[in-house]
Amino acid sequence: METEDFIYKSKTSKILTNGAFSWQAPSNIALVKYWGKQESQIPQNASISFTLNNCHTRTKVHLDKKEKSETFTFDFTFEGKKNDAFKPKLAQFFNRIIIYVPFLKDYHLQIFSENSFPHSSGIASSASSMAALALCIMSLEKALNPEMSGTYFYKKASFLARLGSGSAARSIEGPLIVWGKHPTVDDSSDLYGVKYTKTIHKVFHNYQDTILLVDQGQKQVSSTIGHNLMHQHPFAAKRFGQANNNLTRLSEVIKTGDLEIFMQLVELEALSLHAMMMTSMPYFILMKPNTLAIINAIWEFRRVTKTPVCFTLDAGANVHVLYPEAEKIKVQSLIDAHLLPFCQKNNYICDSVGNGALEI
Ligand code: PMV
Repeated sequence: METEDFIYKSKTSKILTNGAFSWQAPSNIALVKYWGKQESQIPQNASISFTLNNCHTRTKVHLDKKEKSETFTFDFTFEGKKNDAFKPKLAQFFNRIIIYVPFLKDYHLQIFSENSFPHSSGIASSASSMAALALCIMSLEKALNPEMSGTYFYKKASFLARLGSGSAARSIEGPLIVWGKHPTVDDSSDLYGVKYTKTIHKVFHNYQDTILLVDQGQKQVSSTIGHNLMHQHPFAAKRFGQANNNLTRLSEVIKTGDLEIFMQLVELEALSLHAMMMTSMPYFILMKPNTLAIINAIWEFRRVTKTPVCFTLDAGANVHVLYPEAEKIKVQSLIDAHLLPFCQKNNYICDSVGNGALEI
């Protein structure tokens, strides 16, 4: 599908004067990372992620019909309190999507949102929050155009979410989502995420992700700035090629369940993402000393016990510890004995692979 296919064209004369739509959308953790984009959040390479189960955003949108107006209006309440701090980011999102959902101008929107994870945990909430909001908007479009197919509904939700935050394109469905055109993934697109439909080995069906909260503060460098630094990055072209190759190799591993290669690729991706940050101009480091202490402790535990446990990182200091469900008890002992002291206030979140957003 092309960008033009997502422009709303009124097919029915259905009128909705008011109403409310609610969705819960998950966070996701990339195995092959997206870092570097063109205009309109078009990724420079394909990425693949596990959809998470417990970390999510719940959003409710109340609609009130108003006189047709050229300006779009909304209020935003976050975790029970009116919140103006997030409004500029939301206004930017609405500006980007209004051409695809022009009917929004006919309504005043009241948006209520809450996260299942602590706001200041350093876990990026933009993916789950933009996805939940995009799904509420699609429910409105579906109410105006009831004949819309389920496939179109989810594709357009991902398309809209992408315009809010690139990685949000991967927060609609599950358990594995590919975003970005890739020769080995049928129907893959730069415009939206698609469900990974090839064989998934059973070891990945309930893969675990324990998120160790190393630094619960505000990120020093936003991902927007980081992505933009890839434009003049000396290693950019090599990095985009490497990511696409890693996705080809990972899709083989997803089929065979070869955890040695899985762990190697996932850790290589995490460190390559941070290597890009450390070698851009200006350069920056988002890892903290405790991030490295955790990585070393995981490597030592893996060497001694042969447990298939590995790590990945987002654009921050927190560490995602990834392992099969069958290794839960062993990995919990690693966390309790060796990793907790490196977490801020001993905080961590237990999550696992999930199946995507839910209407609530
Ligand atoms: O969605 P953004 O623009 O915040 O980009 C985030 C990219 C990473 O989380 C660092 C990697 C990824 O693919 O999720």
